Amino acid sequence: MWNDLKQRADAARENSILELCQQDSRFEDFSIKHGDLLFDYSKTHLKAADLDMLVDMAKDVPTRRSAMFSGEKINETEGRAVLHTALRNLDGGAVKVDGDDVMPEITATLKRMQQFADDVRSGVFKGQGGAITDVVNIGIGGSDLGPAMATLALAPYHNGPRTHFISNVDGADAADKLALLNPETTLVIVASKTFTTIETMTNATTVRKWMETVVRDPGAQFVAVSTATEKTAAFGIPSERVFGFEDWVGGRYSMWGPIGLSLMLAVGLDAFEEFLRGAQDMDVHFETADLAKNMPVMLALIGLWHHQGMGFPTRAVLPYDQRLSRLPAYLQQLEMESNGKSVAMDGSAVETVTGPVVWGEPGTNGQHAFYQLIHQGRTVVPCEFIVAAQGHEEHLTEHHTLLLANCLAQSEALMTGRSMDVARGLMAAKGFEGAELERQAAHRVFEGNKPSTTLIYPKLTPFVLGQLIALYEHRVFVEGVILGINSYDQWGVELGKELAVSLTPVVEGNQSADNKDSSTRGLVEYVHSLRG
Ligand code: F6P
Repeated sequence: MWNDLKQRADAARENSILELCQQDSRFEDFSIKHGDLLFDYSKTHLKAADLDMLVDMAKDVPTRRSAMFSGEKINETEGRAVLHTALRNLDGGAVKVDGDDVMPEITATLKRMQQFADDVRSGVFKGQGGAITDVVNIGIGGSDLGPAMATLALAPYHNGPRTHFISNVDGADAADKLALLNPETTLVIVASKTFTTIETMTNATTVRKWMETVVRDPGAQFVAVSTATEKTAAFGIPSERVFGFEDWVGGRYSMWGPIGLSLMLAVGLDAFEEFLRGAQDMDVHFETADLAKNMPVMLALIGLWHHQGMGFPTRAVLPYDQRLSRLPAYLQQLEMESNGKSVAMDGSAVETVTGPVVWGEPGTNGQHAFYQLIHQGRTVVPCEFIVAAQGHEEHLTEHHTLLLANCLAQSEALMTGRSMDVARGLMAAKGFEGAELERQAAHRVFEGNKPSTTLIYPKLTPFVLGQLIALYEHRVFVEGVILGINSYDQWGVELGKELAVSLTPVVEGNQSADNKDSSTRGLVEYVHSLRG
């Protein structure tokens, strides 16, 4: 399969994207509209016959998809079901794990979250100094990136307490954020699936100490969100303020449940429910649409075409939406922690490269930073543009028009490029001649024929954000199924964590570095000389 893909993709390099897009039906044939989202993949090298082959690669997806939605233990290395979809199964039926319907528990927890959020937002729940003005979410990875990304994305819907996120074990993170806050009116959410993550537990202890200096009963202003409810009790958070979830919700897939509490506090119950409904809508589309018209499936296949087929090592996620500025970081975890693997589900080596490097920044800022390389560098970077037809700022529509024009201009420029002849004409018009004209013109050539896709939605509402994030989740699933890997474990983060534990006493100076290699020993000694 991978050799066929490579051969076909190699041959497709000769296809002119511009010529393909000069056919009138190109846009219609190479885009998918579902609900509020339009996914355009017309500006790629793909031809109809390539699409047939790609769709054929996804033939096992329906079986694995049913297995996921029905609660089978598809996370085989951890023996767990993968059921983040159940968290947004608002109108659906029973979902069974080991024969038990998990929906009553999910619904009960959602109701508790709603009641608590309502109490905080209405001022019924108070801190020592009165109504809660600020919420601090302490978490990292999946217990931070999702709610932080979504809270920023939905800024126009904020009508609750201000929300802050502390994640890094670097004390600067906690210090800078706490400096803005009044402990007497701050609510702290300790968000950790395992409740053992060193960064989160260190930050939680620091924040509790900060609160203790002023607040008589700091535990009363702490909430825990975790699967490890016995550990939350040991930390001193009473069960009425613990919101639990099950181990079949992966950390990076968890913001739809209790990990989303900070988002719910910021935007309120209705907007949070709309967010879930958007995701549920994408789940239904993913479960029911034909593979060739299925947005997550096609987004995944285009990803495989570019990375495994054409060999492009990275993909750029370029939201022309300032409020999606944390989306690339969120997707880095979602995609790279899920599909950055080398071993297939059965323990054998995967035959191909797996997940690409994912990176990005919002447009138009990126245009003034790294787009130079995208347009004229030697590395081809497939670009995934994301943009709303309308902004929330009705008094600033001219900004949004410029934003849209820039977004569309970039995908057009990547496709069209600029030939040497055109560059010569431009330089001749400026008065250059002879060898200098040739030299100047060469710098102004754009190779073009560079692929991109574009996702467009009407406006960044909670519903649309839910659709968008569920779209990416299912893309990861489809890519993982075709690669034959387990997208739901993350053993690759363990070794560094273990070594950090063993290095802590060495850095403290309480243990010798003698059993370390020369490089690590040298670095430790140099650090010691600087720390005194
Ligand atoms: O280190 C990786 C990881 O396990 C992620 O998968 C997870 O999202 C993050 O750490 C945080 O874990 P927890 O929610 O258990 O604190």
